[in-house]
Amino acid sequence: MLHGQFLCRIIYAFIYSKYLVLISLVNTSEFKNKVQGLPTYNRTKEDLIKNPQTWVITGVAGFVGSNLLEALLKLNQNVIGIDNFSNSSGNNLTSVQASIKENWSNFTFYEADIRNLDDCLKVCNGADFVLHQAALGSIPRSIANPIATNDSNINGFLNMLLAARDSNIRRFIYAASSSTYGDHPALPKTEDRIGRPLSPYAVTKYVNELYADVFGKIYGMETIGLRYFNVFGPRQSPNGAYAAVIPKWINSLLSGNACIINGDGSTSRDFCYIDNAIQANILAATSTNVNAVNQVYNVACGASTTLNELHQTLVRNIAKHNYQTIESKPNYQDFRNGDVLHSLADITKAKKFLGYNPLYSAEEGLKNTANWFIKNLNTKGS
Ligand SMILES: NC(=O)c1ccc[n+]([C@@H]2O[C@H](COP(=O)([O-])OP(=O)(O)OC[C@H]3O[C@@H](n4cnc5c(N)ncnc54)[C@H](O)[C@@H]3O)[C@@H](O)[C@H]2O)c1
Repeated sequence: MLHGQFLCRIIYAFIYSKYLVLISLVNTSEFKNKVQGLPTYNRTKEDLIKNPQTWVITGVAGFVGSNLLEALLKLNQNVIGIDNFSNSSGNNLTSVQASIKENWSNFTFYEADIRNLDDCLKVCNGADFVLHQAALGSIPRSIANPIATNDSNINGFLNMLLAARDSNIRRFIYAASSSTYGDHPALPKTEDRIGRPLSPYAVTKYVNELYADVFGKIYGMETIGLRYFNVFGPRQSPNGAYAAVIPKWINSLLSGNACIINGDGSTSRDFCYIDNAIQANILAATSTNVNAVNQVYNVACGASTTLNELHQTLVRNIAKHNYQTIESKPNYQDFRNGDVLHSLADITKAKKFLGYNPLYSAEEGLKNTANWFIKNLNTKGS
């Protein structure tokens, strides 16, 4: 009898300890985010697989475009892509083809230019949704050559809007930018409080929002702007003068060079892993919430990382792979013209209206990204 009671107590203690572990897990914000974010997004993806749609992706050979392409082909969707390779090569498309294999035949590619209205009309023909990503990115590039940035980012944008209108596209989702917050000092950034633009690039991205808004009012078009905050991940180009910080630094670290930090490293950003941006695009295109359309949304994680922290995390992730020659001391240089010191998003609006919930923290995303680059740029690692 006593022996039985003792056994019961041991079983009880065992179950209770498992319960405590579960409760502590459930209480982490990361776990909550994942559990809350999954139902809407998973259901949306299941619906798309059952009922495939036709999507136009502009800038499909670029970083965000090629990742959207891969995600949509995996969901058995039909995709029409356009790119003029002005800031990309065919490498990202080859890489998607290798990862997709059989669904690749659902993809039609046009090497064409959104500055040409006929090209835009050609790609929009018969499509359901447009995910407009094509643009010349980079604030320094726009300062060096504002006309080129304006041509693709404003004239090209307007062509795509017109083509989408005349092709009766169901919804036009476009890549907006956190640069639209300009010199507004408030943190975190909420969608309705913006300042004055600090670069030609920021002007173009703001003009996109104004055009989209007017096309909604005048022509009844459904548009949604996604203000990306420093999106990063696999396939983002590490090359050229205008490369983004994360692929550029990973490349430097893998080749044993010091990373250049503009400023003292206290500059902070809301780094957003690509899978979160893909989620936002898919939810924005398919949302049945009538209040969600003709709006702009922050797409980020809602957490800030300084450049010094980013550097340390990348060094740590890459050092794990036995890179002997890693140069772990950064090289500090002057602050860059047109850059804001801090950027942090409030993502409440996207959560509320689109059911968006970032499933990857910056930390998890950086680990995946470093691993991807080590596999794909591998020269010296193990
Ligand atoms: N990556 C980020 O952190 C970030 C942040 C804010 C906004 N955005 C916006 O997101 C979108 C995608 O950015 P990305 O990082 O993938 O850039 P990217 O340069 O990798 O991709 C853009 C693609 O558009 C193509 N393109 C440019 N002009 C074109 C034209 N006239 N006709 C056809 N194709 C053209 C380029 O060749 C490139 O392949 C852009 O609109 C960018 O402004 C990106």
